[in-house]
Amino acid sequence: MTNWYTKAIFYELYPRAFADGNGDGWGDFIGLRQRLDYLEWLGVDCIWMTPVYPSPLRDDGYDVSSYYGIDPKYGLMEDFKLTVDEIHRRGMKIIMDLVVNHTSDLHPWFVEARRSKDSPLRDYYVWTHDPEKYKETRIIFLDTEESNWAYDELSGEYYWHRFYSSQPDLNYDNPKVHEEMLNILDFWLKFGIDGFRVDAVPYLYEREGTNCENLPETHDFIRKMRQFVDENYPGTLLLAEANQWPQDLLPYFGNNDEFHVAFHFPLMPRLYMALAKGDRTDVVNILADTPPIPDGCQWATFLRNHDELTLEMVTEEERQFMWDYYAPDMRQRLNLGIRRRLAPLMDNDRRKIELMHSLLLTLPGAPVLYYGDEIGMGDNIALEDRNGVRTPMQWNDSINGGFSVAPLENLYAPPVSGPDYGYGTVNVLVQEITPNSLLHRVRQMIHARKELDMLPRGALQWLDHLPNTLLCFWREDENGKFLALHNLVETEQTIELPTGYHFINVLDEDSAVGESITLGAYGFYWLLVS
Ligand code: NOJ
Repeated sequence: MTNWYTKAIFYELYPRAFADGNGDGWGDFIGLRQRLDYLEWLGVDCIWMTPVYPSPLRDDGYDVSSYYGIDPKYGLMEDFKLTVDEIHRRGMKIIMDLVVNHTSDLHPWFVEARRSKDSPLRDYYVWTHDPEKYKETRIIFLDTEESNWAYDELSGEYYWHRFYSSQPDLNYDNPKVHEEMLNILDFWLKFGIDGFRVDAVPYLYEREGTNCENLPETHDFIRKMRQFVDENYPGTLLLAEANQWPQDLLPYFGNNDEFHVAFHFPLMPRLYMALAKGDRTDVVNILADTPPIPDGCQWATFLRNHDELTLEMVTEEERQFMWDYYAPDMRQRLNLGIRRRLAPLMDNDRRKIELMHSLLLTLPGAPVLYYGDEIGMGDNIALEDRNGVRTPMQWNDSINGGFSVAPLENLYAPPVSGPDYGYGTVNVLVQEITPNSLLHRVRQMIHARKELDMLPRGALQWLDHLPNTLLCFWREDENGKFLALHNLVETEQTIELPTGYHFINVLDEDSAVGESITLGAYGFYWLLVS
């Protein structure tokens, strides 16, 4: 059986950055509703919305100070409900972030936990007198944190945090924490949302002598969550954010009794590596190392998201290569990654941006697009941390790019300016009325993909007799057979097509396909066996 999420096209958006409906300089639900026409037209099946919970925003909403509400800047709960209903009315779905690993230090649980060692809430978090504990655990936010322990002056102990010190980790050894999380799931699912992107799942438990990641106890809790949604809200999607190697990712599917979908983190940087080196090998190898997943499960694939382009799942040598190639300016680097958007990473070269989209849309998995990449938005390196890739969506060339009518100084962040990526040049409207724009091309590929039922989960077979500068593969299942051809280099290359087939050129149905095809610089073809 094919579940909706197996073949869905996901679209990640930052509600704060998408559209401001009330003119206060912050994106909100009114604004989002006004832009649903666009997402429907683009072909989005499911919106993934980053956190909108009340939050002091020290980690852009991933520091939750209340799980049972939304920050008033986005609107009222009624607004949220209206938005969910309107998304459903259009046949789309919506998933939210669920931050399971930590809260904000301003969450009332933590405030109380600090205040009183006798409070039952003390045990909602992980405390010690000995900051040497769990010392085999890596630090994730390397640029800002020196330890996974932070000293709490008030109570005279250290608390555990895998991310910023303003995000204390919850203590999953405490069954009350499990109960709280299931109540939170219940609360949001009652509103009718379609699932969760579950944040930072590998880190729920700590055990001495381990690296405190992917522990069996973590999987036990995930099974509990899955059982809860299966029993109470069947059809709900649980999508795992686990930035891990393929062999460590596999257990997150369990026997299809943990997550339905997990991001394929190791594939993402290798798509960039393949293009930079003009060599398909890294992509072929990582997919060869990717074990088959249970029926009913799916990989989520992506090119960029709201974080830095993570280089955690590459070797040190590969990381250095990626940094040298894609982030020559030190300011473009962050932690173990690169804080740039897709178009600038591709030197704003349309051919490369399209090629990357073609790879995303034809390789196995459910593609997750990041807002703005479909029009080739740029980034703003002057903004700190990951904010440079979270700038306002560029809708048109009017004030603030059509994002908001507020004075510039009231915007949560300035829109990107300048001749190459500024909203005067790069915006939705201009691309909507320009038939051969990037937006139209991406949309065409999205809609074409929807008709190609073998793409989400069909078998993958490389044309490995071809030179490494070509990334060409068959996709096949009981629905049919499809051939994708990609030229990773600037030099034109001619391919003799496999004989015995009649091919349809999916992206240009009027052009006949002969016995061979010449791929121009960074060119690609989608061929369906008819
Ligand atoms: C992963 C999120 O994508 C990132 O933005 C956040 O900072 C960390 N998890 C911590 O919640």
